[in-house]
Amino acid sequence: MGTQRGEWQSNIGFLLAAIGSAIGLGNVWRFSYMAHQYGGGAFLVPYIVALIVAGLPIMLLEYGVGHRAKGSSPLSFRRIGTKYEWLGWWMPVVAMFGIMLYYSVIIGWCFNYLFYALTLAWGDDPQHFFFSEFLSISASASEIGGFRPQIVLSTALCWFLCWLICFRDVSHGIEKASKIFMPALVVITLVLVGWTMTLDGAKDAVFNHYLATDWTKINFLATDPMQRSAAREVWVAAFGQIFFTLSLGFGIMITYASYLPKKTNIGVNALITCIFNCCYSLIAGLTVFGVVGFMAKLQNLPFAEAIKGGPQLAFVIYPKAISLLPAYNNLFGVLFFLVLCIAGLTSGVSLIEAFACSLTDKFNLNRKKAVTSVCCLGFIGSLVFTTNGGLYLLDIADHFITHYGLILGGLVECLLIGWILKSSTIRSHLNATGSSISKLWDFSIKYFTPLILIVLVYFSVSGDLKKNYEGYTTLQLLIYGGGALLICFMIAMIFTLLPWAKDKLEHEHSPEEDDLLV
Ligand code: PHE
Repeated sequence: MGTQRGEWQSNIGFLLAAIGSAIGLGNVWRFSYMAHQYGGGAFLVPYIVALIVAGLPIMLLEYGVGHRAKGSSPLSFRRIGTKYEWLGWWMPVVAMFGIMLYYSVIIGWCFNYLFYALTLAWGDDPQHFFFSEFLSISASASEIGGFRPQIVLSTALCWFLCWLICFRDVSHGIEKASKIFMPALVVITLVLVGWTMTLDGAKDAVFNHYLATDWTKINFLATDPMQRSAAREVWVAAFGQIFFTLSLGFGIMITYASYLPKKTNIGVNALITCIFNCCYSLIAGLTVFGVVGFMAKLQNLPFAEAIKGGPQLAFVIYPKAISLLPAYNNLFGVLFFLVLCIAGLTSGVSLIEAFACSLTDKFNLNRKKAVTSVCCLGFIGSLVFTTNGGLYLLDIADHFITHYGLILGGLVECLLIGWILKSSTIRSHLNATGSSISKLWDFSIKYFTPLILIVLVYFSVSGDLKKNYEGYTTLQLLIYGGGALLICFMIAMIFTLLPWAKDKLEHEHSPEEDDLLV
């Protein structure tokens, strides 16, 4: 008999955990920057279209697959067919080795900055502080340099906290933590938004840059070829963001849904997860734009020059703005970095969970031992990103993993469920849980979403072939980016080839029997 699988204690606990996975660093800095770069309010159109035609259908698919098979992604895919187990491994391996290793380091930076906010330690020149003093960044990606002790320490703290949350069973670990973290996250974010709106220049930035719509930027049928191709890029970016932000294609939602009791309305859960996550992004955007607007006005800078994407936004622009606040700067700083720490941690635990659960499912390992080994090894692996060259490595790995690893996982997943298992099987399962999913969903999973994903991959490949990403050398890209993908692939293959623990596949639960009941 296999080890007893955990179960969420309540549906709300499950929802909070799933939303916790979805809401992450990306909702704060990735979304806001994209909204700005790609047409302000007009970006919301492709974003919402992407949510409806790809995000929600794949969310339903992942929930349906995990709930039906009651297993992590390797077990779920194995139950579809022995030869598909590798895909079940590919997704959590990419989550763990492709993303979590560097995601934990960024969460570590947030811990460092939470601490720095107490004294505004970044001083008058946060740019210099971040790059030269904090990261002590090397001259190029080829120079890895030594470890940054304070980053090693904060990364260790991140892994320790994730371990603390994950090592108990889901209802006592992740569920309990999510019940504390998620309400706290929402409250703190709302406080920050309210506070931001009182700042001079904030409302202007929100109305003139965040919500102002530049429709030409999304018109992919424009007659001007330049405008047309720029608009297509916006649509591709919106789809990419939806995948990333909803944590799809990593096996996370499959794993989380596998802990749901039989009687659960999957459709409603998927809808709530998607809507909540996207609303959070919209709301967090208010504080990002507001604070940047405040700073731009104070320094007489054009808004477009003031805003930056990615780590620069959180660790350079925001600290600069925090220092300029008229009052309670430290408190604002602490709250902002607390938001990032909480959002990051709840996503981090989901990345670990997807992988650890795959191990316990396949090898019948004791959960505590599996989580402890995963966290120890994970910490050691993430050390490479705590070096002087860490930011470069992180940037390249992130680009390759999110542009290829994630999208390919999602694509194969759609094709497999759409064509091999037959999407109608999962649809019947979903509808048996009380949802009412129409046949349109099958169409989306079989044709539409895969087509979009193929276009995404095509755009990424052609973009990368035209111009080396961010000016890195081809060798650096091949070693760090291609290498990361190759290592993930090899690890996934090794796990696939290792034998299953005895009894594990003898049906503790048979999805086919359930299908017959439908
Ligand atoms: N969804 C998270 C975010 O928006 C990131 C994430 C991706 C988390 C994949 C888990 C898995 O930041």
